[in-house]
Amino acid sequence: MSVLVLGGAGYIGSHAVYQLIDKGETVVIVDNLETGQRQAIHPDAAFYEGDIRDIDFLRSVFEKEPIEEVIHFAANSLVGESMKNPLKYYNNNVYGTQVLLQTMIEHDVKKIVFSSTAAVYGEPESTPITEAMPTLPTSTYGETKRIMEKLMKRTDEAYGVNYVSLRYFNVAGARETAEIGEDHCPETHLVPIILQTALGQRSHITIFGDDYNTPDGTCIRDYVHVEDLIDAHLAALDYLRDGGQSDVFNLGSSQGFSVKEMIDAARSVTGKEIPAKIGARRDGDPSILIAGSDKAKQVLDWKPARTSVAKIIEDAWKWHSSHPNGYRKEVST
Ligand SMILES: NC(=O)c1ccc[n+]([C@@H]2O[C@H](COP(=O)([O-])OP(=O)(O)OC[C@H]3O[C@@H](n4cnc5c(N)ncnc54)[C@H](O)[C@@H]3O)[C@@H](O)[C@H]2O)c1
Repeated sequence: MSVLVLGGAGYIGSHAVYQLIDKGETVVIVDNLETGQRQAIHPDAAFYEGDIRDIDFLRSVFEKEPIEEVIHFAANSLVGESMKNPLKYYNNNVYGTQVLLQTMIEHDVKKIVFSSTAAVYGEPESTPITEAMPTLPTSTYGETKRIMEKLMKRTDEAYGVNYVSLRYFNVAGARETAEIGEDHCPETHLVPIILQTALGQRSHITIFGDDYNTPDGTCIRDYVHVEDLIDAHLAALDYLRDGGQSDVFNLGSSQGFSVKEMIDAARSVTGKEIPAKIGARRDGDPSILIAGSDKAKQVLDWKPARTSVAKIIEDAWKWHSSHPNGYRKEVST
């Protein structure tokens, strides 16, 4: 029996595949390589290159492989791009999930673990953010993820497809052994940008505003180590296998760190100067976003063990310093 990982060539999906294979699971990957990397694909996984919106292609994978469960990472996820090109996001994220659920029902596959996001909450009234708080996404990206959750809820009600939706906060770090890591293009995430500055690939990092209502004036966010995040996916899979009901969980560290604290932590891990300049605030950046993750700890028995800022940056630095051009270096050598 196999676990189908959609988006298994991407940053988070590739870490899931490695951990699933470590655990002895048989893994099938579907990825169109739009933002994923061929070099991130685990050699022991069966790989099908194609698009989840192509129902004939997806049906052919379900017909060939003994798929029992699905982990769904395949989506577009840039907030800025989603505001400029909303239809791309409705098409890939929402329509892609509709095609997937249709194919799952046809093949009697009734368990799915899903990548959602803190962006479904929009601007929270208070922190820490719990799953009971209203979802009022402010971006098209967040809205498509919320619609995907609703699609799964209605599909469960009608056809009994059980889902776990995991709402990630800021995912960072890399596999400890550094054979895979984070390589987005364009890179928009804070930790890789800080470490690209440490490598001298950027002259400085711009801090977007230092006049927020926080102790050092810079925005506070909640960071979770990618390997801890994947532990929660494996726990969610076990939960569904044990007959657990569909549910939604936040995944964060429940601790916030400011942009300045993250840069200071990276200076201390890397021993590099990491020049920083203060820029203007960005529209729509809330001052503090911290997850309440107690529900995942209680219900899924999730035990995040690597989620300290030092560990996140140490593991990310191992990857970035050994792969300064990401996966591209490996292509040319
Ligand atoms: N990185 C974060 O901090 C973060 C935070 C919250 C939520 N998420 C969610 O986690 C998931 C993974 O994020 P990531 O950072 O690994 O992104 P990523 O872009 O590295 O991975 C997404 C993968 O899905 C593939 N894909 C996209 N559309 C596809 C399609 N139609 N058919 C087949 N494959 C397709 C891409 O090629 C890529 O390999 C996304 O759904 C994202 O919304 C990420």
